[in-house]
Amino acid sequence: MKKIDTKHFISFEGIDFSGKTTQINLLKAYLMENGYQVAIIREPGGTAISEKIRDILLDKKNFKMHNRTELFLYSAARVQLVEEKIIPLLNNNNFVIADRFVDSTTAYQGYGRKINPQIIRQINQIATGGILPGLTFYLKLAPELSGLRRENREAPEDRLEVSGNEFYDRVFKGYEEIADYSNERVITIDASKTVEAIQKIILNTIKDHVL
Ligand SMILES: Nc1ncnc2c1ncn2[C@@H]1O[C@H](COP(=O)(O)OP(=O)(O)O)[C@@H](O)[C@H]1O
Ligand SMILES: [Mg+2]
Repeated sequence: MKKIDTKHFISFEGIDFSGKTTQINLLKAYLMENGYQVAIIREPGGTAISEKIRDILLDKKNFKMHNRTELFLYSAARVQLVEEKIIPLLNNNNFVIADRFVDSTTAYQGYGRKINPQIIRQINQIATGGILPGLTFYLKLAPELSGLRRENREAPEDRLEVSGNEFYDRVFKGYEEIADYSNERVITIDASKTVEAIQKIILNTIKDHVL
C-alpha cells in the first residue's frame, strides 16, 4: 500500500468553546491566501454515511445509548471519513484540517466515559488504518471557562452536552494526559489567550514545521 504523507493533515482538539472552529477558519483563510487547497472535516461526519451516524450520536432521544455503542459509532463514522475523504484529499495535495479527530475519542469515550484508553487507542488504530495528523493543536481551556463561553450563546444543548460537570472535568484531564505523552505531534496552546494571539502561535508553528 502507498504510504500516505500526513504533513498537511492538521487536527484541532479541545473541549467545546475552546475556539477550534474560530482558529480553523482563520488558518484556512491564511492557507488559501497562500495558494493552498484546504478541506475542513468535522467529526463525527464529513461523508454521507458519517453524517447519518452523527445524527444518531447527537439525537437526545437516544439516551439509552451504551458507551461502547457510542465508541463504535464514532469509529465507524471515522473509517468512512478516512477512506472516502482524508486519504484522497491528502493524495491530491490538499491541506486537511480536522475539527476533532482520534484524540477526541480518547478524551471523551476513554477518559470521559471511562472506557480503558489503551483499548480506545487500538480501536482508533483500526478506524484510521494507522493514519495520524502530522500536527495537532490542542486548545487548552479550563472547563469553567468553557461554561462561561457557553452561557454567552443561545443554542440548545445536544445529547453530549448534557453530560454534566464531572464528565467534562475527566475529558479535560484526558486531554492533558494525551498532550503529555504525544508532545511531538501535539502543540498545546493556552485557549484563554485572545483569538489573535492564538492565531499567531498557530501560524508560526505551521510556517516553522509545515510550509
Ligand atoms: N480566544 C478566544 N477568546 C474568547 N472567546 C473566544 C476565543 N475563541 C473563540 N471564542 C468564542 O468562543 C465561542 C466558541 O468558539 P468556537 O470557535 O466555536 O469553539 P469550538 O469550535 O472549540 O467549540 C465563540 O462564541 C467564539 O467567538
Ligand atoms: Mg466548533
